[in-house]
Amino acid sequence: MVTKTHSMEDLKEKVHDYWDAETCGSQFGEGKKFSKEYFDIIEKDRYDKEPEIKEFANFSEGKDKRVLEVGVGAATDFLQWARSGAKLNGIDLTPQAIEHARHRLEVYGFKAESLQVSDAENLPFKDNEFDIVYSWGVIHHSPNTLQALKEIIRVLKPGGKAKIMIYNRHSYLTYFFWVKHALLKFKWNLSLADVLWHNMESYGTKGYTVKEIESILAKEPVSNSKVFTYYTYYDKMERHGFLSIDDC
Ligand SMILES: C[S@@+](CC[C@H](N)C(=O)[O-])C[C@H]1O[C@@H](n2cnc3c(N)ncnc32)[C@H](O)[C@@H]1O
Repeated sequence: MVTKTHSMEDLKEKVHDYWDAETCGSQFGEGKKFSKEYFDIIEKDRYDKEPEIKEFANFSEGKDKRVLEVGVGAATDFLQWARSGAKLNGIDLTPQAIEHARHRLEVYGFKAESLQVSDAENLPFKDNEFDIVYSWGVIHHSPNTLQALKEIIRVLKPGGKAKIMIYNRHSYLTYFFWVKHALLKFKWNLSLADVLWHNMESYGTKGYTVKEIESILAKEPVSNSKVFTYYTYYDKMERHGFLSIDDC
């Protein structure tokens, strides 16, 4: 007996609908939507909770470089690339995210070279266009993550740098999820991948081990790859009672 699975198109529509309903990070905004206060609060919340983003991105490296951000979300990091003096380009699957990014640049007086609704799996750019392609927490949500990775590599100039954050399947957060969604519900046959797929943000989210990513990258035309993990705010149990771990 088999169960028919979702097609890639169905899955992508679910991903689109989930993120278009509430742009990632915007739930922390206060004040009038798209006001400076709204964006400032989102920014403070983000970097207070996740200071490792600034270390990882190293935004100052963007000065005078052509930078593409894949999956801008509420555009908090996008703004940092703009502040660094990058020639900035951004895409996201959802119109809501692109609206956030447009307003965000406008509020702080910046302009992007391009900003558009688009799919990471089919980037609207020529080969070898960018010095830096940055993507934080995006391509593990896309149904064909490998295709999105290949696209990022395709649009990078030779010698260019891709900085990509994807979820670690062997993180404390994933273990907590397993306790909550498998162990405590007596669904002990569920794997870590299963609980991520069904419970982590948009439907179909994946997590990878360091070894898996290293072996994927070994087959791609890249060099000097460094794969490492961060212990993040979301891995810390003390942020919630043990049995009430948030699904985000
Ligand atoms: C967890 S949020 C991260 C957003 C932002 N990078 C941040 O860190 O706040 C995931 C984002 O990925 C976008 N996304 C998911 N699949 C995508 C795809 N195939 N192409 C472009 N964006 C995608 C979603 O629309 C959403 O804005």
